Amino acid sequence: MRRVNLTFADINKFCLHNPPVSEVLDVIMTTQIIYAKSELIPSFYEALAAVARERVYIEMIEPPPLEKVAGFQNELMGKNGPVYYAVDNGKVVGWCDVFPEENPRQSHRGSLGMGLLPEYRGKGLGSKLLAPVLDHAKKFGLEKVELHVYTTNQPAVALYRKFGFEQEGLLKKYRKLDGRYFDCLAMGKFL
Ligand SMILES: CC(C)(COP(=O)(O)OP(=O)(O)OC[C@H]1O[C@@H](n2cnc3c(N)ncnc32)[C@H](O)[C@@H]1OP(=O)(O)O)[C@@H](O)C(=O)NCCC(=O)NCCS
Repeated sequence: MRRVNLTFADINKFCLHNPPVSEVLDVIMTTQIIYAKSELIPSFYEALAAVARERVYIEMIEPPPLEKVAGFQNELMGKNGPVYYAVDNGKVVGWCDVFPEENPRQSHRGSLGMGLLPEYRGKGLGSKLLAPVLDHAKKFGLEKVELHVYTTNQPAVALYRKFGFEQEGLLKKYRKLDGRYFDCLAMGKFL
């Protein structure tokens, strides 16, 4: 079994969450944060599709075709860009990536996306994914990371604020799905 170093602050934080501490520790002990690998893309795709089908967290409600998603992931990995997966027993249960803008006058900026399967949320894994991605983005040469997050997504907003993202705008009625509007925060962090 993999050894995990937990701090007192980690344990204390787990105690504030609803799931029993043992359950949280199990997930933390079996889930690894790794740099993405091509062979894990089909599993990543399943995780992306699951979060998309929840309809309320990320813009897409169905994933694009696997080949298209694989193309983007491989291209980012191919240039050693910032893309990490959370993997539990060989299965991708979460991801975090930053895609640099393509326009050369904007390529100092990158756009962040992330998600975890429902049973892996609220256990500190979002923080464990985001930290290496931001480090990597800086080493990659990006100067700024940006993202869009729905105002209803309080855990995500809390996570981004914790990592120093600041609100740069409020886009009212940014999205309309099934007659329901979603306001959206534009957030950014200088690296
Ligand atoms: C957003 C997401 C990646 C966050 O990951 P996570 O593992 O759940 O987040 P963490 O457990 O690391 O918690 C991050 C912080 O938010 C806080 N938080 C969690 N839920 C919260 C809530 N409902 N309200 C306020 N703060 C909350 C946590 O306490 C933690 O802060 P702390 O470390 O100071 O205690 C995850 O919840 C997720 O995948 N959600 C669905 C997909 C999604 O929203 N993607 C992002 C789209 S922009």
